[in-house]
Amino acid sequence: MSDIPAASRPVVLTGDRPPGPLHLGHFCGSLRNRVTLQHGHDTFVLIADAQALPDNADDPGRITGHVIDLALDYLAVGIVPNLTTICVQSALPALCELTQLFRNLVTVARLERNPTIKEEIQARGFGRDVPAGLLCYPVAQAADIAAFRATLVPVGADQAPMIEQTHAIVQRPNRQVGHALLPEARALIPASGRLPGVDGRAKMSKSQGNALALSAADDDIRAAVRRTDTDSDYLRVSDPGRVEGNVVFTDLDAFDPDRDTVAEMKAHDRRGGLGDTVVKQRLRPCCSICSRRSV
Ligand code: TRP
Repeated sequence: MSDIPAASRPVVLTGDRPPGPLHLGHFCGSLRNRVTLQHGHDTFVLIADAQALPDNADDPGRITGHVIDLALDYLAVGIVPNLTTICVQSALPALCELTQLFRNLVTVARLERNPTIKEEIQARGFGRDVPAGLLCYPVAQAADIAAFRATLVPVGADQAPMIEQTHAIVQRPNRQVGHALLPEARALIPASGRLPGVDGRAKMSKSQGNALALSAADDDIRAAVRRTDTDSDYLRVSDPGRVEGNVVFTDLDAFDPDRDTVAEMKAHDRRGGLGDTVVKQRLRPCCSICSRRSV
């Protein structure tokens, strides 16, 4: 525990949209940072149910049904309620009020240029028929960050444009009053980059069906590790393997605390003679980051 006095502690805020269980990609992307930061910071985690509405407007029950699941994932991964305040976005009407004010400080053109929003519009095939709530969610996110007076926002790389947008918004009232009325937040993005999906695609994501949930049962973990893409050019065990770009090694780098053993295995693989099964056997327990049963 830190000895920084509570009043002068920096504020950390981040959040996740339900539904959908958190997966290993979230763990590498920001959960791990949150668990560390809760010591020595005033830490808040927002279950962003309102932000999930544009995708679930026809069936909002899909969101409400998963709010508790998300909270359970937080607890299972090591977020401690005594150190981190877990809040539900829709239960805080002030966030809506601030969003409404902030909407006047941003243009539609600026929102349309946001690369993450562009990707989301494209992935869902909306074209010009994008729900206004989806286009505007960076404004709501700026309101979340400003309302909590957060200065540090641990997020995955895809959320960096939201923090930039927050900057652009809070600068306007700050300039008007001539002092830092609203703090400028900084994104904390892990240096390790995005975790690839089990199919070898660049990003682990539930919507692409290539994610392994943190709450996965042993059988699901076994199946996902079996499926995990390895070195596809590899013919015989005695052939030298390819370590770079091999998802199993990327995962071991991300999750195996025994760096020396991983380094030895990589060297062995480059020389040849190390079968996929051995590497995957090592990976399997490393994917059991947490267990719902321990909550
Ligand atoms: N946009 C985030 C996500 O996609 C969730 C989120 C909502 C958030 N409000 C936030 C993240 C404030 C950081 C800070 O999961």
